[in-house]
Amino acid sequence: MMISEGLAAAMSKQVVAEFYSSYLYLSMSAWFDSRGLSGFANWMKTQAQEELTHGGKIFNYIGERDAEVELGSIEAPPAKWDSPLAAFKAAYQHEQKVTGMINDLVAMARDERDFASESFLQWFVNEQVEEESTAKGIVDQLTIAGDHPQALLMLDRELGQRVFAMPAAAE
Ligand code: FEO
Repeated sequence: MMISEGLAAAMSKQVVAEFYSSYLYLSMSAWFDSRGLSGFANWMKTQAQEELTHGGKIFNYIGERDAEVELGSIEAPPAKWDSPLAAFKAAYQHEQKVTGMINDLVAMARDERDFASESFLQWFVNEQVEEESTAKGIVDQLTIAGDHPQALLMLDRELGQRVFAMPAAAE
């Protein structure tokens, strides 16, 4: 059974939103790098890679359901933030927005009794819990670090450890 045109269009928009997320985090990565915070930059670059796999996963699904993908343009992301805390607060807010978009897609799939799409989207529902929790965790740590450069550098070292791993469900 084919996915509905409306749902295919909404999912296509989600592909673009995931690629925008990648773009946003890549921009944040460059900003952290320019401030000498290479660990934060590494974390953001890894996150940018992960977002590409999210977009790719939805792109593949639309094709599997024999529907048309409409790829719109990707907006330019901001290039500057006031502080590392402001950048992570923006990332956290962005993830909350993405969660809302995923929830809207689930509601749409459910309304259409498209249970395959609802089941497919469940992976993203769970992923968003993880995404929000991770971003909020770093916001909290940055809040604790405050204006102490030593605490910021410790966190930078910790975030420098993150390595990209292809999510199992996106293989
Ligand atoms: Fe793909 Fe960060 O949500």
